[in-house]
Amino acid sequence: MKGVILAGGLGSRLMPCTKVTNKHLLPVYDKPMIYYPIMTLVNSGITDILIVTGGNHAGEFLRLLGNGKEFGLKDISYTFQEGEGGIADALKLAEHFAKDEKVFVILGDNIVEDNVKKHVDDFIRQPNGAKVFLKEVSDPKRFGVAAIKDGKIISIEEKPENPKSNLAVCGLYMYDNEVFNIAKNLKPSNRGELEITDVNNEYIGRGNMTYSILNGWWTDAGTFESLFKASCLIAAQKSK
Ligand code: G1P
Repeated sequence: MKGVILAGGLGSRLMPCTKVTNKHLLPVYDKPMIYYPIMTLVNSGITDILIVTGGNHAGEFLRLLGNGKEFGLKDISYTFQEGEGGIADALKLAEHFAKDEKVFVILGDNIVEDNVKKHVDDFIRQPNGAKVFLKEVSDPKRFGVAAIKDGKIISIEEKPENPKSNLAVCGLYMYDNEVFNIAKNLKPSNRGELEITDVNNEYIGRGNMTYSILNGWWTDAGTFESLFKASCLIAAQKSK
């Protein structure tokens, strides 16, 4: 299984900080944001990862991460997303890297407390399909939100006005190789992007989606509020 970190975008919600750097290089407490998803992959046993970046400061990733040896990675690859096509568009760039392996995709601004190796191992044993992580949140309207029936996800709605549950879909996704065919056939959403939620709904429609509830805390860090929250959570964890 290979790892993919999606770290593109213009980070417009974090202007003016993102005028001079990429969002995923901003500090979360004492480390650049992207260190956290890298550690999540490494702690899951993944040693070969691709960074999909984009925007104006892509070269800084190579300066920061080099060949990835510092993290115990066997290899680190980089690619560049042109334009603002959305998360699923960025994922398409990983097809060549994945070859015929499964992929664990993490949004570069998602930080988790828990070690998710057990769930990754479960997915490696899952013959095919996809697996997402869910977490109860107080503000589901900000996220993709899952509706569950009889222990199965029956739909995911992206940033719904009237959420069907308080279970957010975290930005950590595991897919078989079919994900690249699904992404290629997506139509842009109202905001003109290829949505990861549409990819996930395709797997749900095929009856091929499982989920795990994430233990411990989880946060994104793409707004000033969540970036501050992420730093506080890491600081509290360190002082334990
Ligand atoms: C993205 C996804 C959303 C998911 C969230 C997790 O939203 O579209 O489904 O719940 O990441 O962080 P974004 O942060 O790009 O608005």
